[in-house]
Amino acid sequence: MTNFELKKVNTKFEWQAYHRIRRKELFDNSRHYDENHPDEFKAENEPMLMFMEGEPVATVRLDKTVDYAMIIRLVAVRSDLQGKGVGKELMRLIIEHVKNAGLHKILVNARITAVGYYEKFNFAEDPWNPDELHGIAKNSVQMSLTF
Ligand SMILES: CC(C)(COP(=O)(O)OP(=O)(O)OC[C@H]1O[C@@H](n2cnc3c(N)ncnc32)[C@H](O)[C@@H]1OP(=O)(O)O)[C@@H](O)C(=O)NCCC(=O)NCCS
Repeated sequence: MTNFELKKVNTKFEWQAYHRIRRKELFDNSRHYDENHPDEFKAENEPMLMFMEGEPVATVRLDKTVDYAMIIRLVAVRSDLQGKGVGKELMRLIIEHVKNAGLHKILVNARITAVGYYEKFNFAEDPWNPDELHGIAKNSVQMSLTF
């Protein structure tokens, strides 16, 4: 059975893998991707990497910026592994992590092209904070999952 693990980014190697995956899969390798964005370093935000058999394959940031839910941001699976069930493992581990944190709700700004992915896990449209829909989240669909 393939081993998947979701861990908080820690070492220099892990930060490099985290930024490499996000820059490519979400920012189209843009020079404007900011590795030092202050949100990465806020105490209530957790930059996470998912490992498959010890290799970094996916990213998510878990932001505990609202008191009743976890916001998941910049969800990305390495392109050579997309469509093979890796995103499913990522969501399973995210939900497990959020439950362990004592929370019962996940919020996301879903890219139009990823709405179907979130629907697979029973996320539903929910305009939880329309003020967020600018920048990379422009045209996103706000969704939530309660469990
Ligand atoms: C969206 C993403 C995270 C999904 O990861 P993945 O590894 O490709 O997903 P999986 O192969 O595990 O698919 C899980 C399920 O979701 C479905 N699914 C995955 N991507 C989908 C999509 N874009 N639209 C509709 N359904 C999708 C799959 O069909 C699968 O359903 P099944 O279990 O019935 O077969 C990944 O494709 C990705 O990183 N995309 C680029 C970045 C991005 O758009 N991130 C989301 C930002 S909000």
